[in-house]
Amino acid sequence: MTSSELRVGERVMLIDSKDRHYLITLRVGASFHTHAGIVEHDSIIGSTEGGSVNAKGGRSFLVIRPTMSDIVLKMPRGAQVIYPKDLGAILMQADIGPGMRVLEAGVGSGALSMTLLRAGASVIGYEIRDDFAEHAKTNVYDVLGRDVDYRVEIRDVTEGIDEDNLDRILLDMPEPHKVVEHAENSLRPGGIFFAYLPTINQTHLLRNTLARHAFGLSETVEILRRTWHVEERSVRPDHRMVAHTGFLTTARRIIRTPRVNDSSENNDSVEELED
Ligand SMILES: C[S@@+](CC[C@H](N)C(=O)[O-])C[C@H]1O[C@@H](n2cnc3c(N)ncnc32)[C@H](O)[C@@H]1O
Repeated sequence: MTSSELRVGERVMLIDSKDRHYLITLRVGASFHTHAGIVEHDSIIGSTEGGSVNAKGGRSFLVIRPTMSDIVLKMPRGAQVIYPKDLGAILMQADIGPGMRVLEAGVGSGALSMTLLRAGASVIGYEIRDDFAEHAKTNVYDVLGRDVDYRVEIRDVTEGIDEDNLDRILLDMPEPHKVVEHAENSLRPGGIFFAYLPTINQTHLLRNTLARHAFGLSETVEILRRTWHVEERSVRPDHRMVAHTGFLTTARRIIRTPRVNDSSENNDSVEELED
């Protein structure tokens, strides 16, 4: 269990009365300068999460540990990160769990990597750019520490996948249709293929390619998240929202057997799942 006491080396968020968020890492003797005055780290170290701190100059900030979602939105980026609303859905759609062997490409800024690792997966990353690979590793180790099962290789995933018997393959790169054949060979039967794509044209091409290989139960979804403005006399959706980020496509690696009879009538061995 995490203690509520804030310690040196931890990340905390300072939130002002206008809901502006600042992410800092606590260091002995350091200070944080804002438009609202200077906050001494020493006045936060040893205090209790959820309390407040006064800046020299008088303004007060709520002090709280950031969630993974806060970190993803605030951490330094090389490549564009996957938004938290999609990261959460990916964990369910790709059914990520402890001990799973996951291949991820490309790793970009490491947002998806840290989400998978925190869910307990063992992650092998393929990344074509060495600067992004370094960036992803720095972000992952900063957030989760070095004691995670994470390895990143500089390579092009469209040229092949060395690992076999993988539980999951997750792709966030421009041409995942070029990886389908490799995925067919590297995923264990029943394993899950996942790709994140910004446009429906790319998604369509991917779905057509999946349909020609040993994949079934393909599904494409997008996640729409609308926040609400809630005040005593006004409760309504917020005026602005992030309308589109990406399409999430999943498919299961199946063993293709020639169909003897397409009709499922009189087939007692088929169980139907209710929606
Ligand atoms: C949008 S970023 C991924 C962001 C990452 N999912 C995150 O959440 O931080 C796409 C990444 O794919 C990498 N990439 C593009 N083509 C690739 C390929 N063929 N093989 C491996 N990585 C590739 C890019 O260099 C880039 O880092």
